[in-house]
Amino acid sequence: MVILTSLLYLNFVIIQTNEDLFEKVSDNNDSIIPEVTSGTIGPVVMPNLNNSTLKAELGQSSWKLIHTMMARFPENPTEDEKEALRNFVYLFGRLYPCGECASEFQKIIIMYPPQVSSREAASQWACAVHNIVNERLKKEIFDCGKIAEKYKCVPFHHTIINTMVPPVLIDDVIMLILDHVDQKTLYSCLFVNSKLYQLTLPTLWRSPRFMKFRNVLIFQQCLQQRPHMGKYIKVLCFKRLGFCNYLDDELLIQIIKSCKYITKLDLSFAGMITDSALTIISQHCSQLNHICLKDCRTLTNDSIKAIAKGCLMLISLNFERCLSITSLAFDELTTNHKNYVKKLDLTLCKWVNDDMAPIISKFHSLKKLNLTNCTEITSDFLITLSPNVPNLEELYLGGVLRITDEGVIQVVDHCPNLRILVLCGCDIHDRTLHHISKLKNLYKLDVTFCMNITHNAIRALLCMNITKLNYGELDIDERTLISLRREYFLSLNVANY
Ligand SMILES: *[C@@H]1O[C@H](CO)[C@@H](O)[C@H](O)[C@H]1NC(C)=O
Ligand SMILES: *[C@@H]1O[C@H](CO)[C@@H](O)[C@H](O)[C@H]1NC(C)=O
Ligand SMILES: *[C@@H]1O[C@H](CO)[C@@H](O)[C@H](O)[C@H]1NC(C)=O
Ligand SMILES: *[C@@H]1O[C@H](CO)[C@@H](O)[C@H](O)[C@H]1NC(C)=O
Ligand SMILES: *[C@@H]1O[C@H](CO)[C@@H](O)[C@H](O)[C@H]1NC(C)=O
Ligand SMILES: *[C@@H]1O[C@H](CO)[C@@H](O)[C@H](O)[C@H]1NC(C)=O
Ligand SMILES: *[C@@H]1O[C@H](CO)[C@@H](O)[C@H](O)[C@H]1NC(C)=O
Ligand SMILES: *[C@@H]1O[C@H](CO)[C@@H](O)[C@H](O)[C@H]1NC(C)=O
Repeated sequence: MVILTSLLYLNFVIIQTNEDLFEKVSDNNDSIIPEVTSGTIGPVVMPNLNNSTLKAELGQSSWKLIHTMMARFPENPTEDEKEALRNFVYLFGRLYPCGECASEFQKIIIMYPPQVSSREAASQWACAVHNIVNERLKKEIFDCGKIAEKYKCVPFHHTIINTMVPPVLIDDVIMLILDHVDQKTLYSCLFVNSKLYQLTLPTLWRSPRFMKFRNVLIFQQCLQQRPHMGKYIKVLCFKRLGFCNYLDDELLIQIIKSCKYITKLDLSFAGMITDSALTIISQHCSQLNHICLKDCRTLTNDSIKAIAKGCLMLISLNFERCLSITSLAFDELTTNHKNYVKKLDLTLCKWVNDDMAPIISKFHSLKKLNLTNCTEITSDFLITLSPNVPNLEELYLGGVLRITDEGVIQVVDHCPNLRILVLCGCDIHDRTLHHISKLKNLYKLDVTFCMNITHNAIRALLCMNITKLNYGELDIDERTLISLRREYFLSLNVANY
C-alpha cells in the first residue's frame, strides 16, 4: 500500500541527479534533505555486479540487515543517533557492493529521504523504500502495517507499545490539523503508521505545487501511473509558472482526465491552451467553482460557453486580459449561473463596454467585480448595473478614466455593503466623496490620481472606519489615518468653541 506514495513526493522536491542533490544539501534549508557529514553523499563507489544470482542473494541479506536495524533503532533517538542512521543510509547508497543497485537506491533515497525521528518512522520508511524496489522488480508488495511483526527482533518494547491504548483523536480532527502542516512535515507523516498514512495522503495530494514547468511533466507521469490518486486533487494552479507556462492542450487534457474532482483551476498565462482543452475540462470537471483564465489569450467564446454548460457550480470567474472573448460568450453563463456567480474579474478586457452592463446585471449575487482598465466603459455602465447588484462588496475601477460622479453616486446609493472601492484615475469630484462617506462598511478607498478631489473632502472621510486610504499619490496607512483622525476631531472641537 505504501507504494502509493511513490512519486508523489516528486511534486515537491524534484531532484534526480547527484549533482542536484549536492546543491540541495549545501544551500537550501527548505530542502527535505538534511545536513549530512561530508563524504556521506557522493557517487557510487562499487563496480557493477552483473550476476543476477549474486545480486538477488545480496539483496535478500541486505534487506534483512536494514529492517532489523530499523526494528532495533531507539524509539526516541538522540540527535546524534538520528544523524548516525541518516549517514548510514546515505553511505549505504554509496558503498553497497552492487554498483548498479546502489545507483537505483540513491535515486530512491533522494526522493524518499531517510526518516530517522523514531523507530517507527525509520521502520516505515525502510518498508516503503523496499516496496518501491519490489515494485520496480515486479515483486510482491509487503504490507507495512505488519513490518514490526515480521522483524520482531525487539519483542520487549513492541509488545508493550501495541497493548498500550493510544490517545484517540478522531480522524476529522487529524485532518483539520493536517491542513495546517507544511509539505515537508506532511511527507514525514506518511511514515508514522498506516492510519496517519491514509489521512495524510489526500492532504498531500490536494493542491500540488508547480514551481517549475518540469514539475508539471513529472506530475503528469505520476498521475498516469497512479490514476486513482487523481481523486484527491482539488486545486490545480499553474499561476506560479508565470510566463514559463508551456502547458499545451495535450498535456492539460491528460492531467484533467485524472482530476475529475477539482474545484479550482488556475490557468494563468497558459497562452497555448485552446478551446478544445476547455471543452474537455467542461466535460470532466463538474465540481469546478473557481476558474481563472488570466492571459489565456487564445481562448474564445466557445471555451466560456462550454464551461458554462458543463460546470454548473461556478462561483468565481477570472477573465483578465482574455482578449479573444466577446460579450456573446456570456449567453450561457447568464442563463445557467445568474444566481451563483459571486466574483468576476474582467481586468483589461477591452471588449467590455456599456452594452455589457445589462449582461453583468444578471449576476444578482455578485460581490466582487474587477473592471480595472476596462477603458471602454462610462458612468452609464454603473448606472445600469448598480441597481441589480445590491450585494456588491468590492468594486475595482482603477484606470477607467471615463467614470464620473454620476456613476459612482449610483453605486454608492445602491450598494450599501461596499467594503472596497478603487476609483484610481476616475473623473470624480468632492461631492462624490461626501456621498461615499455614507458607506458604513467601507474600509478601503483608493482615490489616487483623482485630480479634482480636494483636501477638504478627504477630511470628511476621516469620520469613517477606513483603514486604508490611497489619495493623491500617497498610500496612507492605518497609523497615519488614526493620527490624522485625531487631529481632525481636535480641530473640530476647537472650531466648536
Ligand atoms: C537556515 O538554517 C539556519 C540554521 O538552522 C538558520 O539560522 C537560517 O536562518 C536558515 N536560513 C533560511 C533562509 O531559512
Ligand atoms: C559488468 O558489465 C558491464 C557492461 O555490461 C561492464 O562494463 C563491466 O565491466 C562489468 N563488470 C564486471 C565487474 O564484470
Ligand atoms: C554468478 O555467480 C554464481 C555464484 O558465484 C556462479 O555460480 C554463476 O556461475 C555466476 N553466473 C554467471 C552468469 O556468471
Ligand atoms: C464570439 O462569438 C461571436 C458571435 O457568435 C462571433 O461573431 C465572434 O467571432 C466570436 N469570437 C471569437 C473569437 O470566436
Ligand atoms: C483587480 O485587478 C487588478 C489589476 O489586475 C489587481 O491588481 C487587483 O488585485 C484585482 N483585484 C482583485 C480583488 O482581484
Ligand atoms: C492599467 O493601465 C495603466 C495605464 O495604462 C497602467 O499603468 C496599469 O499598469 C494598468 N493596470 C494593469 C493591471 O494592467
Ligand atoms: C477635473 O474637472 C474638470 C472639470 O470638471 C475636467 O475638465 C477635468 O478633466 C477633470 N480632471 C480630471 C483629472 O479628472
Ligand atoms: C472597522 O473596520 C474593521 C475592518 O476593517 C472592522 O473589523 C471593525 O469592526 C470596524 N469598526 C466599526 C466600528 O465598524
